[in-house]
Amino acid sequence: MKTVFSGIQPTGELHVGNYIGAIHNWVKMQDQYRCIYCVVDYHAITQDYPVKEMKSRVHDMALDILALGVDPDRAILFVQSAVPEHTELAWVLSAVTGHGDLERMTQFKDKSVNQSENINAGLFSYPVLQAADILLYKAELVPVGADQVQHLELARRIGRSFNNRWGKVFPECEPKLTETPKVLGLDGKQKMSKSLGNHIPLSAIEDKPLRKLLGRMVTDEKRVTREDPGDPDVCNVFSFHKIFSTDDDRAWVREGCTTAGIGCVDCKGRLVGRMIEHFADYRERRAALVANPARVDEILAAGADKARAIAQRTMAEVRQKLGLWRSP
Ligand code: TRP
Repeated sequence: MKTVFSGIQPTGELHVGNYIGAIHNWVKMQDQYRCIYCVVDYHAITQDYPVKEMKSRVHDMALDILALGVDPDRAILFVQSAVPEHTELAWVLSAVTGHGDLERMTQFKDKSVNQSENINAGLFSYPVLQAADILLYKAELVPVGADQVQHLELARRIGRSFNNRWGKVFPECEPKLTETPKVLGLDGKQKMSKSLGNHIPLSAIEDKPLRKLLGRMVTDEKRVTREDPGDPDVCNVFSFHKIFSTDDDRAWVREGCTTAGIGCVDCKGRLVGRMIEHFADYRERRAALVANPARVDEILAAGADKARAIAQRTMAEVRQKLGLWRSP
C-alpha cells in the first residue's frame, strides 16, 4: 500500500480554498492508502506570528481537519514539532540541496517581497524541511494545492540526490492535485488565502455570515447593473457552483445570468444553500469536537507516537547510510 503524506501550516482555521484545493483529497485518500497528515508548526515560524496564539492555532487546525472527516482510526494526524526527526532529516537533506534550486522557488521569492524585513534562512530552506516531512515516511503521493507543485519537484530531486550520494533509501514522490487545485478568493483575482483576507473560513459557512461574505464576492465585472446579462464562464461565483451545486442549479444560473433573468444576489443565494448542505457533516463533527477539546489532543498525541516510530526507523537507516558514528 502506498504511503501518502501531506502537511498544512497552523494558520488557525481552514478556509474553502484549503479544502477544495487539497484537504478534500486528504479525506478521500484514506480509503485507499496509508495516510499521514501533519500540522507543520516548524514551517510556520519562518514568518511572523503571534506566539501566544500558536497553541490554539495548532489545536484549531487539527480540529478542523478531523471535522472534515480525516479519521484517526485510518490516518495518522500529528504535529510536526512532536517528531524531532523532521528537523534532523532536514539538516541531512540540506547537504544534497542546491543553493540555486532554493533560489528559484517562487514561493521564497514572493515571501521575500512580502516580508522584506525578515528574510531569514528558514524561509530559504523551507522546502528542505518540506522534503524531509515527506521522505521521512517514504511517502509517494502528496495531496497539495497547485502552489506546492514546485516544492514537490524539488523534494523529488532532493530524494534522488540523497539516493545517488548515499544509497537508495527514498522512493519518488509526486503531487496529487484535486479537480480544482487553485481556488480564487472573494476578489476573484488572487488565490484564496487567509493572509490576503479574501477567504471564506469553513467556520463561516452558516446562513448569515456566508451571505455576508458572498455578498462581497466579485462576479462578472462587465455585468454592472441587474439588467446587464452576465457571463458565468468568467464569474468566480459560478466556479463555486461547479463545485458545490447540482447540474440543474448550474443550468438555472447559466440561463438566468446570460439573459439577465436572475441577478447576482439570486445566484449567490442558491450557492449559500448548497454550501451549507455540503458542509453539514463537517459542522456537526466540529461542534462535537469543540465540546470535547481534550479529544483533539489525545488524537494528536497518539498520532505523534505512531509517526515517531516510523520516523525513527527511517533515521536509523539514514544514519547508517551516511556512515555516522553509533554507540557500539
Ligand atoms: N508548504 C506546504 C504549504 O504551504 C505545507 C507543507 C509542509 C507540506 N510540509 C509539507 C505539504 C509536506 C505537503 C507535504 O501548503
